[in-house]
Amino acid sequence: MADPAIVPAPDRPERDLDLVLFGATGFTGGLTAAYLARNAPHGLRWALAGRNQDKLAAVRDRLAESGADVEGLELLRADVTDRASLDALAGRARVVITTVGPYLTHGEPLVAACAAAGTDYVDLTGEPEFVDRMYLAHHATAERTGARIVHACGFDSVPHDLGALHTVQELQAEGPVTVRGVVRADAKFSGGTFHSAVTAVSRARQMREAAAERRRVEPRPAGRSSRAVAGRPHRDPVLGWWLLPMPTIDPYVVARSGAALPAYGPEFRYSHYAGTTTLPYAVGGVVGVGALALGAQVGPLRRAMLNRVKQGEGPSAERRERSWFSVDFVGEGGGRTVRTRVSGGDPGYDETAKMLAESALCLAFDDNPPTAGQVTTAQAMGANLTARLRAAGMRFETLD
Ligand SMILES: NC(=O)c1ccc[n+]([C@@H]2O[C@H](COP(=O)([O-])OP(=O)(O)OC[C@H]3O[C@@H](n4cnc5c(N)ncnc54)[C@H](OP(=O)(O)O)[C@@H]3O)[C@@H](O)[C@H]2O)c1
Repeated sequence: MADPAIVPAPDRPERDLDLVLFGATGFTGGLTAAYLARNAPHGLRWALAGRNQDKLAAVRDRLAESGADVEGLELLRADVTDRASLDALAGRARVVITTVGPYLTHGEPLVAACAAAGTDYVDLTGEPEFVDRMYLAHHATAERTGARIVHACGFDSVPHDLGALHTVQELQAEGPVTVRGVVRADAKFSGGTFHSAVTAVSRARQMREAAAERRRVEPRPAGRSSRAVAGRPHRDPVLGWWLLPMPTIDPYVVARSGAALPAYGPEFRYSHYAGTTTLPYAVGGVVGVGALALGAQVGPLRRAMLNRVKQGEGPSAERRERSWFSVDFVGEGGGRTVRTRVSGGDPGYDETAKMLAESALCLAFDDNPPTAGQVTTAQAMGANLTARLRAAGMRFETLD
């Protein structure tokens, strides 16, 4: 989104850098750097950060070879094991982007640094336990300093969060509203995503404990309720597809937006599914996910799985070119039904890099509603981020 007029969003701390991208040497970090180099507004003050200066310099060289203007693009050394390096990074930037995962392993020190410094933060986590632990440990500090801590700014969970918001706005029902989101995709994942997913599912008990602790302390909206409801496998009467409940972070993010924003009505329920047109695919999906989840519980099996997939690598440009996703939403309330769809290209990487970079630009430059602490994409940016993603080629449609 080339916009020459850079005006900082009101009331944000003045820093010498607009954005810092931490993890620029990784697979998704490299794609995010390339997206920013191609699409960032002229005059953006940004830097690449990572633990290895030579690898960072190689990323900057690749950007220059692709024709990007990298004059003045700084390289900052930062390591998650060196808190002072993260404090320095958070102290210089208005927004920090991080692709350093698995977040349960590497994520907390940077969230702590950004919350303390009043610096906006975006990441790509899909790990519910990480998000709950960060709420418990750093939400209050971020609320006090004004930092907006926005997790899950990639395929987890931007299309689902903004798609559900779009659906309730189209429905405009007075009373209770239910929305179901149905994901279909053809795509491959990276080593980093595989490691994060296996780490997350191997910690089912810890995940439940963190969620329960959060429920005990998090205030509920007065006079309203918003909940993620685990569905069951069924054939959907409106869509005509087989739906399988998808135990990802997305329904929790959507429900949190429902709790934060009155637009979702007095009683909001969201369920999240994978959709397929044929029953054998549905059965195969259940068996595949179940086998991965079971294998991840057993130490030696988990290590064997992780050793087979290397971090730092991901699907080729040709494979990503053929990849696609769509999320169909059915919203019901006030006697009406609406169908909407969010869709785009390669979900996990090309579109994720776009969503992550546009989220950071949106926090830095758009006039968003005043929020602070741990907030969702719908809550912190809503229509501004939807407008950016539409302009960048993602589709948000109302079907009927
Ligand atoms: N939810 C979504 O939609 C979505 C989509 C894509 C990715 N993701 C998530 O994004 C994360 C990154 O995925 P990826 O495939 O890009 O992973 P990756 O290629 O393995 O990249 C990991 C990055 O972390 C850096 N790193 C590791 N340890 C570090 C440390 N101690 N200090 C500083 N940096 C460190 C690596 O630096 P070096 O180069 O120096 O090793 C590298 O830049 C994963 O958690 C993945 O699940 C989520």
